[in-house]
Amino acid sequence: MKFYNLKENDEQVSFAGAVKQGLGKNQGLFFPETIPVLDNIDELLAMPLVERSVQVLYPFVKDDLTKGQLTDIVTSAFNFPAQIQPISKDRAVLELFHGPTLAFKDFGARFMAKCLQAFSKDKKITILTATSGDTGAAVAHAFHGIENIRVVILYPKGKISLLQEKMFTTLGGNIETLAIDGIFDDCQALVKKSFDDKELASTIGLNSANSINISRLLAQICYYFEAVAQLSRQKCKSELDNIVVSIPSGNFGNLTAGLFAKALGLPIKRFIAATNANDTVPRYLETGEWAPNETVATISNAMDVSDPNNWPRIEHMLKTGIVPSDCISSVSIDEEQTQSTVLQLAKLGYISEPHAAVAYKALQYNTSEGEFGVFLGTAHPAKFKEVVESILGQPIGLPKELADCASEVILSKDMAANFSDLREYLLSNDK
Ligand SMILES: Cc1ncc(COP(=O)(O)O)c(C=O)c1O
Repeated sequence: MKFYNLKENDEQVSFAGAVKQGLGKNQGLFFPETIPVLDNIDELLAMPLVERSVQVLYPFVKDDLTKGQLTDIVTSAFNFPAQIQPISKDRAVLELFHGPTLAFKDFGARFMAKCLQAFSKDKKITILTATSGDTGAAVAHAFHGIENIRVVILYPKGKISLLQEKMFTTLGGNIETLAIDGIFDDCQALVKKSFDDKELASTIGLNSANSINISRLLAQICYYFEAVAQLSRQKCKSELDNIVVSIPSGNFGNLTAGLFAKALGLPIKRFIAATNANDTVPRYLETGEWAPNETVATISNAMDVSDPNNWPRIEHMLKTGIVPSDCISSVSIDEEQTQSTVLQLAKLGYISEPHAAVAYKALQYNTSEGEFGVFLGTAHPAKFKEVVESILGQPIGLPKELADCASEVILSKDMAANFSDLREYLLSNDK
């Protein structure tokens, strides 16, 4: 299957090309030329995660990977579970934080790293990526120690939690981290500028591991199938026909993957894109006007994005009828509601964190009688320890992955939000 550039439609590349290139010409996003409708959904739902994921992903990658290669990649990338946990009679959370960096991004980043390893052969690659928190850790861990791949991660200095920072700035080796004096959007803009600089890009073999990379999104499709597979073992038919998934959204990669899953035939009735105060999308869906405001800092900081980079893919799916236009609604949840929802969930016996709480609250506003609401648990609560403890007024434990890195030294270099400084760094440190 080919993948084409949504801005420059003549640019068509294979899966391997799209993974290596990241972004197309003119910063266009790659999109699959077709999304096959799978006619064996029940059969797929009965399979274990790895076997099913191979079946779902194979049509997208078969020009570049054999089924055997794909099976190896999926087996080593998805070596931890995605888990449905019931919250109440008509609500459940899909926990996506049981991977090595305790966030949903482990699925996409690990799958991408293994694909890139398979495709890069002996050519040197530099992964340049911006993170508002969890991407950094997931990418750093997924690529750590992979030969011929240098990873440079930009993040907004002082705007992510200390533990989050420690999870990706302490590894060293092929993982370099830059603390940028600015906000996440500045980091994202620096990454975009680097890709526009053709000379720089070809000299250092630039590649992005952000959620704009199609391989990450394809990997994420698999956990929506896993969620429905688990629910299909527990729920009756009427509930299964009425699954509504609420997604805590920042760059909208997760929603994009969910829509791919729906287009493939997975029975999800509709999606709620839950945002924090950075409400460009809910306002856009209401008014038809794309009008990003200044980014606002919130306690669900990985969603502090005012110009989400995956939106063009969603817009394309809505405009071309790949998914029905009424299958997405969006709601903005404020800080007070987020905090009270963390407390409310704790009263139900479930310790959450602000991103999941935003999604749970959005379900409460947006579902009706007879619908079964699933919200995504995108990060382990301990990754947001300070804020969760201050809301709950009591300590929460640290899982081993976090406890292990808490005592490590941060190896980042500080940098102004200035493209020429970044360019010089990338060239002068290219080994
Ligand atoms: C914990 C958490 N939740 C939600 C999101 C938003 O996901 P997306 O960018 O796919 O919308 C992120 C992104 O970094 C995240 O780290």
